Amino acid sequence: MKPIQVGLLGIGTVGSGVFNVLRRNQEEIQRRAGRGIEIGMVADLDTARAQSVVGSGVKVVKDAREVIANPDIDIVVELIGGYGIARELMLAAIAAGKHVVTANKALLAVHGTEIFAAAHQRGVMVAFEAAVAGGIPIIKSLREGLTANRIEWIAGIINGTTNFILSEMRDKGLDFDVVLKEAQRLGYAEADPTFDIEGVDAAHKATIMSAIAFGIPVQFDKAYVEGITKLAAQDIRYAEQLGYRIKLLGITKRATKGIELRVHPSLVPARRLIANVEGAMNAVVVQGDAVGTTLHYGKGAGSEPTASAVIADLVDITRLHTADAAHRVPHLAFQPDQMSSEAVLPMDEVVTSYYLRLRVADEAGVLAKVTGLCADAGVSIDAVLQREAGEGERQTDLIILTHNVREGTMNEVIGRMQALPTVLAPIVRIRKEELA
Ligand code: HSE
Repeated sequence: MKPIQVGLLGIGTVGSGVFNVLRRNQEEIQRRAGRGIEIGMVADLDTARAQSVVGSGVKVVKDAREVIANPDIDIVVELIGGYGIARELMLAAIAAGKHVVTANKALLAVHGTEIFAAAHQRGVMVAFEAAVAGGIPIIKSLREGLTANRIEWIAGIINGTTNFILSEMRDKGLDFDVVLKEAQRLGYAEADPTFDIEGVDAAHKATIMSAIAFGIPVQFDKAYVEGITKLAAQDIRYAEQLGYRIKLLGITKRATKGIELRVHPSLVPARRLIANVEGAMNAVVVQGDAVGTTLHYGKGAGSEPTASAVIADLVDITRLHTADAAHRVPHLAFQPDQMSSEAVLPMDEVVTSYYLRLRVADEAGVLAKVTGLCADAGVSIDAVLQREAGEGERQTDLIILTHNVREGTMNEVIGRMQALPTVLAPIVRIRKEELA
Protein backbone atom coordinates (compact mmCIF):
# COMPACT_ATOMS: atom_id res chain seq x y z
CA MET A 1 0.00 0.00 0.00
CA LYS A 2 1.34 3.45 -0.80
CA PRO A 3 2.47 5.47 2.23
CA ILE A 4 -0.03 7.85 3.79
CA GLN A 5 0.88 11.41 2.78
CA VAL A 6 1.52 14.10 5.36
CA GLY A 7 1.72 17.85 4.77
CA LEU A 8 3.64 19.89 7.35
CA LEU A 9 2.62 23.48 8.01
CA GLY A 10 5.74 24.95 9.60
CA ILE A 11 9.07 23.19 9.92
CA GLY A 12 10.82 24.79 12.87
CA THR A 13 12.08 22.92 15.92
CA VAL A 14 9.19 20.45 16.17
CA GLY A 15 8.69 20.02 12.41
CA SER A 16 12.38 19.16 11.94
CA GLY A 17 12.08 16.64 14.77
CA VAL A 18 9.07 15.03 13.08
CA PHE A 19 10.96 14.78 9.80
CA ASN A 20 14.10 13.33 11.39
CA VAL A 21 12.37 10.80 13.67
CA LEU A 22 10.06 9.61 10.87
CA ARG A 23 13.07 9.06 8.63
CA ARG A 24 15.21 7.42 11.32
CA ASN A 25 12.52 5.04 12.63
CA GLN A 26 10.55 4.59 9.42
CA GLU A 27 10.83 0.82 9.30
CA GLU A 28 9.51 0.24 12.83
CA ILE A 29 6.87 2.94 12.47
CA GLN A 30 5.62 1.28 9.29
CA ARG A 31 5.50 -2.13 10.99
CA ARG A 32 3.34 -0.57 13.72
CA ALA A 33 1.12 1.57 11.53
CA GLY A 34 0.59 -1.09 8.87
CA ARG A 35 1.58 1.42 6.23
CA GLY A 36 4.37 3.90 5.56
CA ILE A 37 4.02 7.50 6.69
CA GLU A 38 5.66 9.99 4.38
CA ILE A 39 6.05 13.76 4.48
CA GLY A 40 4.92 14.67 0.99
CA MET A 41 4.87 18.45 1.20
CA VAL A 42 6.00 21.23 3.53
CA ALA A 43 4.87 24.85 3.83
CA ASP A 44 7.15 27.36 5.53
CA LEU A 45 7.75 31.08 5.07
CA ASP A 46 11.50 30.38 4.99
CA THR A 47 11.48 27.99 2.03
CA ALA A 48 15.27 27.84 1.69
CA ARG A 49 15.75 26.73 5.30
CA ALA A 50 12.83 24.29 5.03
CA GLN A 51 14.27 22.76 1.85
CA SER A 52 17.63 22.33 3.56
CA VAL A 53 15.92 20.35 6.35
CA VAL A 54 13.91 17.99 4.11
CA GLY A 55 16.25 17.71 1.12
CA SER A 56 15.35 17.99 -2.54
CA GLY A 57 12.91 15.03 -2.58
CA VAL A 58 10.13 16.89 -0.73
CA LYS A 59 8.16 19.75 -2.24
CA VAL A 60 8.44 22.96 -0.19
CA VAL A 61 6.05 25.89 -0.67
CA LYS A 62 5.52 29.22 1.01
CA ASP A 63 1.72 29.15 1.07
CA ALA A 64 0.16 26.67 3.51
CA ARG A 65 -3.06 26.69 1.48
CA GLU A 66 -1.23 24.88 -1.33
CA VAL A 67 -0.66 21.97 1.03
CA ILE A 68 -4.32 21.95 2.09
CA ALA A 69 -5.47 22.06 -1.55
CA ASN A 70 -3.24 19.16 -2.59
CA PRO A 71 -5.56 16.11 -3.06
CA ASP A 72 -2.64 13.73 -2.41
CA ILE A 73 -2.18 14.97 1.17
CA ASP A 74 -4.15 12.88 3.71
CA ILE A 75 -3.01 14.45 6.99
CA VAL A 76 -2.10 18.08 7.71
CA VAL A 77 0.25 18.73 10.64
CA GLU A 78 -0.20 22.26 11.96
CA LEU A 79 2.95 23.49 13.72
CA ILE A 80 2.51 27.23 13.22
CA GLY A 81 1.04 28.01 16.64
CA GLY A 82 -1.11 30.87 17.91
CA TYR A 83 -4.81 31.65 17.51
CA GLY A 84 -4.77 33.56 14.19
CA ILE A 85 -3.73 32.07 10.89
CA ALA A 86 -3.40 28.62 12.50
CA ARG A 87 -7.16 28.59 13.22
CA GLU A 88 -8.03 29.57 9.65
CA LEU A 89 -5.73 26.92 8.22
CA MET A 90 -6.96 24.21 10.55
CA LEU A 91 -10.60 24.90 9.68
CA ALA A 92 -9.68 25.00 5.98
CA ALA A 93 -7.88 21.65 6.26
CA ILE A 94 -10.89 20.11 8.03
CA ALA A 95 -13.26 21.53 5.39
CA ALA A 96 -11.01 19.96 2.73
CA GLY A 97 -11.49 16.57 4.43
CA LYS A 98 -7.94 16.31 5.81
CA HIS A 99 -7.16 14.81 9.18
CA VAL A 100 -5.23 17.25 11.35
CA VAL A 101 -2.44 16.80 13.88
CA THR A 102 -1.48 19.78 16.00
CA ALA A 103 0.69 20.82 18.93
CA ASN A 104 -1.30 24.05 19.29
CA LYS A 105 -2.63 24.10 22.85
CA ALA A 106 -3.54 27.78 22.74
CA LEU A 107 -5.78 27.27 19.73
CA LEU A 108 -7.51 24.17 21.13
CA ALA A 109 -7.99 25.66 24.61
CA VAL A 110 -9.65 28.76 23.17
CA HIS A 111 -11.32 27.58 19.93
CA GLY A 112 -11.48 23.82 20.55
CA THR A 113 -15.28 23.65 20.62
CA GLU A 114 -15.52 25.15 17.13
CA ILE A 115 -12.67 23.01 15.77
CA PHE A 116 -13.90 19.68 17.20
CA ALA A 117 -17.45 20.37 16.00
CA ALA A 118 -16.18 21.08 12.48
CA ALA A 119 -14.07 17.91 12.52
CA HIS A 120 -16.97 15.81 13.83
CA GLN A 121 -19.26 17.12 11.12
CA ARG A 122 -16.71 16.48 8.37
CA GLY A 123 -15.82 13.04 9.77
CA VAL A 124 -12.11 13.77 10.22
CA MET A 125 -9.79 13.39 13.19
CA VAL A 126 -8.02 16.23 15.02
CA ALA A 127 -5.22 14.74 17.10
CA PHE A 128 -3.29 16.76 19.66
CA GLU A 129 -1.07 14.58 21.85
CA ALA A 130 1.78 17.10 21.45
CA ALA A 131 -0.34 19.95 22.79
CA VAL A 132 -0.05 18.87 26.44
CA ALA A 133 3.19 17.95 28.20
CA GLY A 134 5.19 17.41 24.98
CA GLY A 135 6.48 13.86 24.81
CA ILE A 136 4.42 12.49 27.73
CA PRO A 137 1.47 10.55 26.27
CA ILE A 138 -0.96 12.10 28.73
CA ILE A 139 -3.79 12.63 26.23
CA LYS A 140 -3.73 8.97 25.25
CA SER A 141 -3.51 7.93 28.92
CA LEU A 142 -6.49 10.04 29.94
CA ARG A 143 -8.59 9.28 26.89
CA GLU A 144 -7.87 5.57 26.55
CA GLY A 145 -5.62 4.02 29.21
CA LEU A 146 -7.65 5.44 32.11
CA THR A 147 -11.04 5.27 30.39
CA ALA A 148 -12.47 2.91 33.04
CA ASN A 149 -12.05 5.54 35.74
CA ARG A 150 -14.05 8.34 37.17
CA ILE A 151 -11.23 10.89 37.20
CA GLU A 152 -11.13 12.76 40.51
CA TRP A 153 -8.35 15.26 39.90
CA ILE A 154 -5.31 16.04 37.83
CA ALA A 155 -2.37 18.15 38.97
CA GLY A 156 0.53 18.77 36.66
CA ILE A 157 3.82 20.54 36.21
CA ILE A 158 3.04 21.31 32.59
CA ASN A 159 5.34 24.21 31.84
CA GLY A 160 9.04 23.45 31.71
CA THR A 161 10.22 27.07 31.63
CA THR A 162 8.62 27.94 34.95
CA ASN A 163 9.70 24.68 36.56
CA PHE A 164 13.26 25.42 35.49
CA ILE A 165 13.02 28.90 37.01
CA LEU A 166 11.52 27.62 40.27
CA SER A 167 14.20 24.91 40.54
CA GLU A 168 16.94 27.49 40.08
CA MET A 169 15.33 29.86 42.61
CA ARG A 170 15.29 27.06 45.18
CA ASP A 171 18.77 25.70 44.43
CA LYS A 172 20.52 29.06 44.33
CA GLY A 173 18.32 31.13 46.63
CA LEU A 174 17.84 33.73 43.89
CA ASP A 175 14.83 35.92 43.15
CA PHE A 176 12.59 35.44 40.13
CA ASP A 177 13.91 38.34 38.02
CA VAL A 178 17.52 37.24 38.34
CA VAL A 179 16.77 33.64 37.35
CA LEU A 180 14.55 34.68 34.45
CA LYS A 181 17.36 36.77 32.95
CA GLU A 182 19.77 33.86 33.31
CA ALA A 183 17.24 31.44 31.78
CA GLN A 184 16.84 33.77 28.80
CA ARG A 185 20.60 34.11 28.42
CA LEU A 186 20.95 30.32 28.37
CA GLY A 187 18.06 29.94 25.91
CA TYR A 188 15.76 28.08 28.35
CA ALA A 189 13.20 30.88 28.35
CA GLU A 190 11.79 32.65 25.30
CA ALA A 191 12.76 36.28 24.60
CA ASP A 192 9.07 37.01 25.33
CA PRO A 193 8.29 34.52 28.10
CA THR A 194 4.93 36.08 29.06
CA PHE A 195 2.74 33.02 28.32
CA ASP A 196 5.06 30.80 30.33
CA ILE A 197 5.74 32.93 33.40
CA GLU A 198 2.18 34.26 33.68
CA GLY A 199 0.77 30.71 33.71
CA VAL A 200 -1.13 31.07 30.42
CA ASP A 201 0.64 28.19 28.66
CA ALA A 202 -0.02 25.88 31.62
CA ALA A 203 -3.67 27.03 31.70
CA HIS A 204 -4.10 26.14 28.02
CA LYS A 205 -2.86 22.63 28.79
CA ALA A 206 -4.91 22.29 31.99
CA THR A 207 -8.01 23.40 30.06
CA ILE A 208 -7.54 20.62 27.51
CA MET A 209 -6.99 18.02 30.26
CA SER A 210 -10.10 19.17 32.15
CA ALA A 211 -12.23 18.67 29.03
CA ILE A 212 -10.93 15.14 28.50
CA ALA A 213 -11.06 14.18 32.16
CA PHE A 214 -14.60 15.38 32.85
CA GLY A 215 -16.27 15.49 29.45
CA ILE A 216 -16.84 19.24 29.57
CA PRO A 217 -16.18 21.67 26.69
CA VAL A 218 -12.79 23.41 26.60
CA GLN A 219 -13.27 26.64 28.58
CA PHE A 220 -10.01 28.54 28.84
CA ASP A 221 -11.95 31.72 29.64
CA LYS A 222 -13.14 30.13 32.92
CA ALA A 223 -9.67 29.07 34.08
CA TYR A 224 -8.04 30.90 36.98
CA VAL A 225 -4.52 31.85 35.90
CA GLU A 226 -1.72 33.09 38.13
CA GLY A 227 1.95 32.87 37.20
CA ILE A 228 5.20 32.89 39.16
CA THR A 229 6.33 36.49 38.63
CA LYS A 230 5.54 37.59 42.20
CA LEU A 231 7.21 34.67 43.96
CA ALA A 232 9.98 35.65 46.33
CA ALA A 233 12.99 33.51 47.23
CA GLN A 234 12.12 33.89 50.92
CA ASP A 235 8.76 32.13 50.42
CA ILE A 236 10.55 29.22 48.78
CA ARG A 237 12.83 29.09 51.85
CA TYR A 238 9.99 29.27 54.39
CA ALA A 239 8.07 26.60 52.46
CA GLU A 240 11.16 24.40 52.60
CA GLN A 241 11.41 24.84 56.38
CA LEU A 242 7.80 23.69 56.67
CA GLY A 243 8.43 20.61 54.49
CA TYR A 244 7.08 21.92 51.17
CA ARG A 245 8.32 22.85 47.68
CA ILE A 246 6.68 25.50 45.52
CA LYS A 247 5.61 24.38 42.03
CA LEU A 248 3.48 25.99 39.34
CA LEU A 249 0.62 23.49 39.10
CA GLY A 250 -2.15 23.15 36.57
CA ILE A 251 -5.05 21.67 38.51
CA THR A 252 -8.44 20.40 37.48
CA LYS A 253 -10.67 18.70 39.96
CA ARG A 254 -14.17 17.31 40.34
CA ALA A 255 -15.57 19.21 43.35
CA THR A 256 -18.99 18.97 44.95
CA LYS A 257 -20.39 22.03 43.23
CA GLY A 258 -18.58 21.85 39.87
CA ILE A 259 -15.20 21.57 38.21
CA GLU A 260 -12.10 23.40 39.44
CA LEU A 261 -9.74 24.63 36.73
CA ARG A 262 -6.79 26.65 37.92
CA VAL A 263 -3.09 27.39 37.48
CA HIS A 264 -1.07 29.00 40.24
CA PRO A 265 2.04 28.47 42.35
CA SER A 266 1.33 25.82 44.97
CA LEU A 267 3.08 24.46 48.02
CA VAL A 268 3.39 20.69 47.60
CA PRO A 269 4.69 18.36 50.35
CA ALA A 270 8.39 17.75 49.62
CA ARG A 271 7.89 14.00 50.00
CA ARG A 272 5.53 13.78 46.98
CA LEU A 273 7.23 12.54 43.81
CA ILE A 274 5.91 15.50 41.84
CA ALA A 275 7.57 17.92 44.27
CA ASN A 276 10.91 16.44 43.16
CA VAL A 277 10.42 17.06 39.45
CA GLU A 278 13.24 19.47 38.68
CA GLY A 279 14.46 21.62 35.83
CA ALA A 280 12.47 21.77 32.60
CA MET A 281 10.84 18.36 33.11
CA ASN A 282 7.05 17.92 33.17
CA ALA A 283 4.93 15.59 35.30
CA VAL A 284 1.21 14.98 35.61
CA VAL A 285 -0.50 13.22 38.51
CA VAL A 286 -3.90 11.72 37.73
CA GLN A 287 -6.19 10.44 40.47
CA GLY A 288 -8.78 7.94 39.24
CA ASP A 289 -11.29 6.09 41.40
CA ALA A 290 -10.22 2.65 40.17
CA VAL A 291 -6.53 3.04 39.40
CA GLY A 292 -5.67 5.32 42.32
CA THR A 293 -2.78 7.70 41.73
CA THR A 294 -0.69 7.57 38.54
CA LEU A 295 2.30 9.79 37.75
CA HIS A 296 3.30 10.57 34.18
CA TYR A 297 6.78 12.08 33.82
CA GLY A 298 8.96 13.19 30.92
CA LYS A 299 10.11 15.96 28.65
CA GLY A 300 7.43 18.55 28.03
CA ALA A 301 9.11 20.29 25.12
CA GLY A 302 11.95 19.98 22.64
CA SER A 303 12.30 18.85 19.07
CA GLU A 304 12.22 15.05 19.28
CA PRO A 305 10.14 14.62 22.48
CA THR A 306 7.38 16.69 20.87
CA ALA A 307 7.89 14.90 17.55
CA SER A 308 7.37 11.63 19.42
CA ALA A 309 3.85 12.80 20.29
CA VAL A 310 3.10 14.16 16.80
CA ILE A 311 4.16 10.88 15.18
CA ALA A 312 2.09 8.85 17.66
CA ASP A 313 -0.90 10.80 16.36
CA LEU A 314 0.14 10.16 12.76
CA VAL A 315 0.26 6.42 13.49
CA ASP A 316 -3.17 6.53 15.16
CA ILE A 317 -4.68 8.28 12.17
CA THR A 318 -2.97 5.89 9.75
CA ARG A 319 -4.50 2.95 11.61
CA LEU A 320 -7.95 4.46 12.07
CA HIS A 321 -8.71 6.68 9.11
CA THR A 322 -10.57 3.97 7.22
CA ALA A 323 -12.69 3.10 10.28
CA ASP A 324 -16.20 4.45 10.54
CA ALA A 325 -15.96 7.85 12.31
CA ALA A 326 -18.37 6.61 15.00
CA HIS A 327 -15.89 3.88 15.96
CA ARG A 328 -12.91 6.15 16.50
CA VAL A 329 -11.84 7.49 19.90
CA PRO A 330 -13.83 10.72 20.48
CA HIS A 331 -11.74 13.89 20.39
CA LEU A 332 -12.49 14.74 24.01
CA ALA A 333 -12.80 11.13 25.26
CA PHE A 334 -16.58 11.34 25.73
CA GLN A 335 -19.03 10.89 22.84
CA PRO A 336 -19.95 14.34 21.48
CA ASP A 337 -23.63 13.94 22.49
CA GLN A 338 -22.60 12.88 26.00
CA MET A 339 -20.70 16.00 27.04
CA SER A 340 -21.50 17.43 30.46
CA SER A 341 -22.62 20.98 31.16
CA GLU A 342 -21.14 20.92 34.66
CA ALA A 343 -19.91 24.42 35.47
CA VAL A 344 -16.31 25.46 36.00
CA LEU A 345 -16.31 27.00 39.47
CA PRO A 346 -15.35 30.62 40.10
CA MET A 347 -12.18 30.86 42.18
CA ASP A 348 -14.11 32.03 45.28
CA GLU A 349 -15.79 28.60 45.40
CA VAL A 350 -12.55 26.62 45.24
CA VAL A 351 -11.65 24.84 48.46
CA THR A 352 -7.96 24.47 49.22
CA SER A 353 -5.42 25.28 51.92
CA TYR A 354 -3.09 28.27 52.16
CA TYR A 355 0.35 29.56 53.06
CA LEU A 356 0.24 33.16 54.32
CA ARG A 357 3.25 35.36 55.02
CA LEU A 358 2.61 38.47 57.06
CA ARG A 359 5.16 41.17 57.81
CA VAL A 360 4.16 42.16 61.33
CA ALA A 361 5.25 44.40 64.17
CA ASP A 362 7.06 42.26 66.71
CA GLU A 363 4.94 43.16 69.74
CA ALA A 364 2.56 41.54 72.23
CA GLY A 365 -0.83 40.38 70.98
CA VAL A 366 -0.13 40.43 67.22
CA LEU A 367 -0.21 36.64 66.80
CA ALA A 368 -3.39 36.43 68.91
CA LYS A 369 -5.14 39.07 66.75
CA VAL A 370 -4.17 37.38 63.49
CA THR A 371 -5.13 33.88 64.60
CA GLY A 372 -8.30 35.31 66.20
CA LEU A 373 -9.44 36.54 62.78
CA CYS A 374 -8.94 32.99 61.44
CA ALA A 375 -10.89 31.49 64.33
CA ASP A 376 -13.78 33.96 63.91
CA ALA A 377 -14.19 32.93 60.26
CA GLY A 378 -13.83 29.20 61.00
CA VAL A 379 -10.43 28.99 59.28
CA SER A 380 -8.48 26.20 60.93
CA ILE A 381 -4.71 26.72 61.28
CA ASP A 382 -2.39 23.81 60.46
CA ALA A 383 0.99 25.34 61.39
CA VAL A 384 2.57 28.64 62.41
CA LEU A 385 6.17 29.71 61.93
CA GLN A 386 7.58 32.94 63.24
CA ARG A 387 11.01 34.07 62.19
CA GLU A 388 13.08 35.15 65.16
CA ALA A 389 13.50 38.93 64.91
CA GLY A 390 17.11 40.04 64.50
CA GLU A 391 18.97 42.14 67.07
CA GLY A 392 17.18 45.51 67.34
CA GLU A 393 14.57 44.54 64.71
CA ARG A 394 10.99 45.56 65.50
CA GLN A 395 9.35 43.60 62.70
CA THR A 396 9.22 39.96 61.77
CA ASP A 397 7.66 37.45 59.37
CA LEU A 398 4.74 35.37 60.51
CA ILE A 399 3.95 32.33 58.39
CA ILE A 400 0.61 30.57 58.70
CA LEU A 401 -0.48 27.33 57.04
CA THR A 402 -4.22 26.74 57.03
CA HIS A 403 -6.37 23.68 56.59
CA ASN A 404 -8.87 23.56 53.74
CA VAL A 405 -11.14 26.57 53.43
CA ARG A 406 -13.26 28.19 50.70
CA GLU A 407 -11.16 30.76 48.81
CA GLY A 408 -13.89 33.40 49.22
CA THR A 409 -13.69 33.01 53.02
CA MET A 410 -9.88 33.10 52.93
CA ASN A 411 -9.98 36.34 50.92
CA GLU A 412 -12.25 37.97 53.50
CA VAL A 413 -9.94 36.93 56.33
CA ILE A 414 -6.86 38.18 54.46
CA GLY A 415 -8.66 41.51 53.94
CA ARG A 416 -9.28 41.80 57.70
CA MET A 417 -5.69 40.83 58.54
CA GLN A 418 -4.38 43.38 56.09
CA ALA A 419 -6.37 46.13 57.82
CA LEU A 420 -4.62 45.48 61.17
CA PRO A 421 -2.21 48.34 61.94
CA THR A 422 0.38 45.80 63.06
CA VAL A 423 0.45 44.16 59.60
CA LEU A 424 3.09 46.24 57.85
CA ALA A 425 3.21 45.02 54.23
CA PRO A 426 0.96 43.33 51.68
CA ILE A 427 0.20 39.78 52.79
CA VAL A 428 1.66 37.05 50.59
CA ARG A 429 -0.76 34.20 49.90
CA ILE A 430 0.21 30.96 48.15
CA ARG A 431 -2.17 28.03 47.81
CA LYS A 432 -1.17 24.65 49.17
CA GLU A 433 -2.07 21.28 47.68
CA GLU A 434 -1.51 18.12 49.72
CA LEU A 435 -2.14 15.90 46.63
CA ALA A 436 -2.89 13.01 48.96
N1 HSE B 1 6.85 26.78 26.58
C1 HSE B 1 6.49 25.46 27.01
C2 HSE B 1 7.22 25.14 28.30
C3 HSE B 1 6.84 24.39 26.04
O1 HSE B 1 8.06 25.91 28.78
O2 HSE B 1 6.95 24.08 28.83
C4 HSE B 1 5.81 24.15 25.02
O3 HSE B 1 4.57 23.83 25.55
